[in-house]
Amino acid sequence: MSIKDQKYLFANWKMYLDFDESNILANALAGEAKNFSPNIKMAIFPSALSFYNVSQVLHDVGICVGAQNVYWTEKGGYTGEISAQMYKSAGADYVLVGHSERRHLFHETNHDVRQKIEAALAVGLTPVVCVGETAEEKNNNQTEEVLETQLRAGFHNLSWPEKIKLIIAYEPVWAIGTNNACEPIKAEKKHELIKKMTTKLVPGVDPIILYGGSVGAENVSDYLKNPNIDGVLVGGSSAKLDSWMGIVDKVE
Ligand code: PGA
Repeated sequence: MSIKDQKYLFANWKMYLDFDESNILANALAGEAKNFSPNIKMAIFPSALSFYNVSQVLHDVGICVGAQNVYWTEKGGYTGEISAQMYKSAGADYVLVGHSERRHLFHETNHDVRQKIEAALAVGLTPVVCVGETAEEKNNNQTEEVLETQLRAGFHNLSWPEKIKLIIAYEPVWAIGTNNACEPIKAEKKHELIKKMTTKLVPGVDPIILYGGSVGAENVSDYLKNPNIDGVLVGGSSAKLDSWMGIVDKVE
């Protein structure tokens, strides 16, 4: 099996599960893990509250974990924030950066996203950089321009560490949590474009591009059969054992 055959299945639990629910789901997943195919690269992104417990349970069975967000300063008087270094010390492998809910509900700017990418890289965490256009931008034919701006802000003049994979999630904002998934063939075209733009910004890297936005068992295969869709980032359908295992079974 070549590395190219590996499919990334990333689960963003958002703010869906409380402490007990997170532990129950993590333990259930750990129970299933021995049956997972080696061509699946799975990572779970629990809430900050449950992060440590979930990471202990999942690391034992070879499943990676990531943070949903980080702050860029290492330590100090930043009430309520958690730094990349803190997550790293609690076992994180990845961190989501610039998720559309962070950008749009919490007004995160492209500059903030850049600082978070740099903070993650500085401690050896792999950032999963989320990009995507809103419905309005799509309707105004601005998708390409928006992606270019987000990617440029994230990666321009950044020296990418050799040991860290460059992972981007293309998540059209209008497709997230709406059941209005982007047509797989249209997503593939965007992925091709994102790959081209990114390799221009960071020469010599081979970016991994995940699709996110209303992915479930019924459509996951339609995405993953495309050459430029290396995996999926799943929200709603990842926070319940049945629907997540439905996706895993399809990929296997
Ligand atoms: P969704 O969310 O699968 O619920 O659409 C995806 C995401 O926000 O990462």
